[in-house]
Amino acid sequence: MAKLEMLFPRQEIDMAVKRLAEEISRDFRDKTPIVLGVLKGSFIFLADLVRRLEFPLEIDFITLSSYKNGVSSCGEVKMAGSFNRDIKGRHIIVVEDIVDTGLTLHYLLECLRSGSPASVKLCALLEKPSRRKKAVDIDYLGFTVPDSFIVGYGMDCAERYRNLPDISCLNQEDCP
Ligand code: PRP
Repeated sequence: MAKLEMLFPRQEIDMAVKRLAEEISRDFRDKTPIVLGVLKGSFIFLADLVRRLEFPLEIDFITLSSYKNGVSSCGEVKMAGSFNRDIKGRHIIVVEDIVDTGLTLHYLLECLRSGSPASVKLCALLEKPSRRKKAVDIDYLGFTVPDSFIVGYGMDCAERYRNLPDISCLNQEDCP
């Protein structure tokens, strides 16, 4: 049985999501942004966040993946399919569950900027600064986390634990 150590209970996550929604609302109320979720990890965070954004917006998703074997990043980012939507002149808010090495977001933000959007901002629920390899500016941040393996609230270990409502640390030995 895997041992999970609670980091952020659901009530604390909810308060952070509310705060982030208030910050984003102040900046984007009159801009009809595209809220772009990075799958799969962001699906629960995005769903909670957008329900607190009470202004016109569009929602889209992109599927990126960097972790190939459970806990270790191979340093390569892959996009499933292509994102060929026209974003010229649009305001984009990228929504991500966690920024770890920064490779995924560095790659995505470069791709998006090449499409000449009006602006690109990043909203990340978690960041793990101790493992950063590529500099990434996070405009709206929930929490900073230690260098542990994080699961729950959309985040997985070998595709498990995404459904847990709280955010927890998992022993690496417990990850298949
Ligand atoms: C996780 C997470 C981020 C990325 C961050 O995704 O959702 O997208 O890793 O790591 P990085 O900063 O080291 O690039 P993952 O590749 O595990 O796919 P998933 O979202 O489908 O779980």
